[in-house]
Amino acid sequence: MVNPLEIKVERNKHKKTKPPQDQLGFGVHFTDHMFVMDYAQEKGWYHPRIVPYQPIVLDPAAKVFHYGQTIFEGLKAYRTGDGRTLLFRPQKNIERMNRSNERLSVPQLDEALFLSALQQLIAADQDWIPSGAGTSLYIRPFVIATQPALGVSPSEHYQFIIIMSPVGAYYPEGINPVKIFVEAEYVRAVIGGVGEAKTAGNYAAGLKAQEAAKELGYSQVLWLDGVHRTYIEEVGSMNVFFKINGTVLTPALNGSILDGITRSSMIQLLKHLDIPIEERMISIEELYEAGRNGTLEEAFGTGTAAVISPIGELSWKGEKLVIQDGQTGELSKKLYDTLTGIQKGSLADPFGWMVEV
Ligand code: COI
Repeated sequence: MVNPLEIKVERNKHKKTKPPQDQLGFGVHFTDHMFVMDYAQEKGWYHPRIVPYQPIVLDPAAKVFHYGQTIFEGLKAYRTGDGRTLLFRPQKNIERMNRSNERLSVPQLDEALFLSALQQLIAADQDWIPSGAGTSLYIRPFVIATQPALGVSPSEHYQFIIIMSPVGAYYPEGINPVKIFVEAEYVRAVIGGVGEAKTAGNYAAGLKAQEAAKELGYSQVLWLDGVHRTYIEEVGSMNVFFKINGTVLTPALNGSILDGITRSSMIQLLKHLDIPIEERMISIEELYEAGRNGTLEEAFGTGTAAVISPIGELSWKGEKLVIQDGQTGELSKKLYDTLTGIQKGSLADPFGWMVEV
């Protein structure tokens, strides 16, 4: 096992110019450093290092290009009003990454080393953490299978890399509601597949439907289950919540839905606020019925990137459903303000979610 203290740091002598805080976009600017660690079957993980941000050189036969053996994570660091740096629930990302690794036959990462790598990398690029409203430092850890071999079998070599990007809102709409197309043809994942793992293929599999929805004027799709095309699973790359008749509902985890960290935080927050919350199967018929009879009060997606993205309109088999007159609902706004307040350190953190770097 690698000792977290063994992370060597090579400082970048050529610091980049930082983008203006009000023009960050999402995931287009990268900091001055990155973390890299190698794996070989015969020695395990070795050579953890922080180096200047740079391209990686891979053999064209590297297994990641051919068989998609790769995992990623996404988490954020925040700069507080009093100048502290806070990470949101990093342990949850570390644990989920190892669950995804297990599903994709990628070797486990040492949790203490992973956390230490995050902390040391953030410390090296402290001055990249934006402080403006709605901004944060998005952190993208990922593993790729690097063995140059075309046989279909788990790679014997890997690289674990962490890169970081100062970000603003994920959707240009911000917390303004988006229009969603209910996808009845393509599916994102099936039970028994890899829907629960944060692996690239799940996102590639979603692009076709996303493109088609965009052409029709929708921002994203609502995914239904792969067997019956009946039960709601996710929205775009986010988990989904509905408020019906005073109760908040979200699809129960079933193996094909991502176990979102914002999702589980939202459930905890709703319980803390004494708002009824149920995790269960929700059919698209039930949702539309609630929409038709006026009991569907709010709908929103949750994820690390956008935090909360309200849904203002749905379209399913030609039937449109306008939610909250297409405006941001009171609950969506309250949950967004509370969670981002905790994350930015302007509100107390009764859950012990934030970890100071
Ligand atoms: C998130 O909501 O954080 C996501 O998973 C989207 C990300 C792939 C950009």
